[in-house]
Formats: sequence, structure tokens, C-alpha cells
Amino acid sequence: MGPPRLPGATPSGIVLARGEGANVYCTDDNRYVDLAAGFGSLLLGHQHPQVVEALTRQSQMLLQALGDVYPSESKVRLLEALAETLSSAQKRSKEDRRMLGILGQSGADALTAALKTAVLHTGKSGVIAFSGSYHGLSYGPLAVTDLRPSYRAPFAGQLAQNVHFVPFPRDHETAERCLALVEPLLAQVGAVVFEPIQGRAGVWPAPAGFWKELCSRARAQGVVSIADEVWTGLGRAGAWFATLAADAEPDLICLGKGLGGGLPISACLGPASIMAAWSRKEEVVHTSTFAGAPLATETALATLDVLRTDQLIVRSHNVGESFLAELREQLHMLKGTAVRGQGLMVGVDVGDFRGQGRGVQKALLERGYLTTSGGGERNVLVLTPALNIEPELLSSFATTLREVLQKMA
Ligand SMILES: Cc1ncc(COP(=O)(O)O)c(C=O)c1O
Repeated sequence: MGPPRLPGATPSGIVLARGEGANVYCTDDNRYVDLAAGFGSLLLGHQHPQVVEALTRQSQMLLQALGDVYPSESKVRLLEALAETLSSAQKRSKEDRRMLGILGQSGADALTAALKTAVLHTGKSGVIAFSGSYHGLSYGPLAVTDLRPSYRAPFAGQLAQNVHFVPFPRDHETAERCLALVEPLLAQVGAVVFEPIQGRAGVWPAPAGFWKELCSRARAQGVVSIADEVWTGLGRAGAWFATLAADAEPDLICLGKGLGGGLPISACLGPASIMAAWSRKEEVVHTSTFAGAPLATETALATLDVLRTDQLIVRSHNVGESFLAELREQLHMLKGTAVRGQGLMVGVDVGDFRGQGRGVQKALLERGYLTTSGGGERNVLVLTPALNIEPELLSSFATTLREVLQKMA
């Protein structure tokens, strides 16, 4: 399918009606190439047949089970599949490879479970987090979220106080400074939480080797390292787990967004040696009625299966590399732009352009491309298409983006 055609539309506030692969249609039946893909959650695109089949099948069998009391067999299979996926990507010693998980419904749920795990395991409530971080907006994750003061300000009085923010290492110099600040804090806290590539802050990776160093320093002090891979995980950033691909060994990994193939589900995964902190004789202390409900566990299983059989992780890496190169090629003459990313998690900084991210986003919508914007000033165009998107659609987009920015310059 070629670039989109918009029959006389002037899209501003569109309402979405249906999706098909990498395309989405609004209620006026205009087609858009979907480079946002449900804020990065549609790893397989819209209406993937295997996801739809899993959903249909499960809807005729069992809609709800009983959490951990009497779980669905689908939930058990998913936890096993996730444990296997993580364990085979790890380099940990054999005895530490047995992975356990807690399921939730959102990325914020997964972060909540991880932060609680760290408290139970270490007995310490202090946390180190990063400037510009985004971990979700329910109270636990919000306390370790720094992006946009407006997210926190009205609720500051109810947020956990024991959080130390250190600068996110966008370059080597900051990385050095950050490690120097972290070192004395490690003696005081139970957890350090980080996004391997900051997504909502505008797609910022850290210098090579930084996460490895951070995780090993944390481990040396008995501090639980939590990798928030809600966005980067499951191939989005070109690897099953971005932290493991960067040679780091976090204690806990949080997944969300793409896990359910479009249905809400998330997971906090970690070795049995740490997750054992949850085991107790009395009543369970963390649960939620719909966590790991059968429809989402089935679509998650289907998603993992397609990612593996269609080799979408390596495809994301390769297609992402070409896309980044094409964007750099198209935009290199345009002052004030910068292209960042890994796999199919791409940010185009359009800071110097009129209207910045949102203005560019609107102009692109008028040309038939659905995008989102991020960064503190919404100055970054965020591109997170389906991992199976046709590369031709990405090439056409790179050309269109140059044309749009040239017009706005
Ligand atoms: C890195 C990261 N962590 C956590 C979350 C929160 O996920 P959710 O919106 O599903 O609660 C997000 C959402 O964008 C995210 O990007």
C-alpha cells in the first residue's frame, strides 16, 4: 500500500474508527499511516489476525478467573512464557535464573509492583530516580516521575518523599556526574529505577556502559535495580530487553504497553531470590481483581508467539537502523533538528521549528501521518510504529517530514 490519500479532509481533531496493520482510519474514513501505534503499544499493528483469533477464542471460553486463588491456565502459561523469555536473555548464574512475575493492567501497575518488591526485599523505602523520568501517573510511579512539574504539583502532598532524583545521563559528562551523585545515595535507598531509553522525555538513550555500571554498583550495595522497559521492551528498541542488550543486569524488569497486543496487561519480572520477598503465610498483600485476566493473557501469549515466529525483534533492529539513517539523510540540512533512537523507538527533535512538536504533528496529520510528540517542551516528534510496518511507508514518511519542516522553516 502506498502513501495515504486524504479525500479533501482537513484533519485536526480526528476520531479513530478502525485500524488495519500499520494504518488507521478516522470516522470520515480517511486513512492515516499510524506511526504512534497506540503510544507504542501495538507492536504487531492493528487487528493482527493472531491477536484477534486469541481474543475470539478466549472470549468463548473464560472471561475472568480468580487471580492467584484459582488462576486461569492462560495466566499460568503467560507467566511461564515471560519467565522463559527473560531467563533465556539473561546472563545470570543458573540458580538466579528462575524468574517469577506479577501481572498488572498498566505500566504504572508494573512499576508499583516493582517498587513494592524492592521495599519488601530490602526493608528500605528510599528510591533513586532520574530527571525527566516517566513511570506512570498512579501514586507509586508518580513519586518517581520527574517529567512535567504539572503531573506532580497538585498531588505533591500525597507523594512518597523519599525519592532522590539524579540527572539523566544524556552524555558522558553527565554520566560521570550522575554516578558520583548516586554512589553515596546507594547506602540510603532500597531501589534505583530507570528507563533504559527515556521515552516521554523525548527518546534519550544513555551512553554505552552506563546501565551496566549503575546496576552492578546497586547490586554491590544490596539495592534493587528496576529497569522500566514498559516502552523499550519486547522489540520496540530492537531487542527483547534494551537493558540486557546493553549488557546491564537489572534485578527487576517491568513490561507493559506492547505486551498485550492492544489489550491492557503488564508484568514485573524478577529472579526468585528477590521475588521470594512476597511469600508469606498470611493473606496476600498485593492483588487486583483484573490483573492477568484471561483475555489479555491470551493476546499476550499470541503477541510473544508472533514476535518470535516472525522474527520481529531483529526486524525492528534492522528496519529501525535504516529508518534512522533515512531520517538523518533527509533532515541533515535542516538546522535545529536531531534524530535519536533505537529499533523502532525514534525521536526527531524539531526544537527550532515554528510550532515545535505539536505544530509539526498537526502538519503531518494533514499529510496523512499519525504521530505523537514528547519532550519537556513537546519539541520531539515521537515515532513508534508497529514492528511489522512496511519499510516503504517509513521512507515516504521521511521525505514528507523533510517537506513539512522545509515549509515551516
Ligand atoms: C517508560 C514508561 N513507564 C511506565 C509507563 C506507564 O504506563 P501506563 O500508561 O500503561 O500506566 C509509561 C507510559 O507511557 C512509560 O513510557
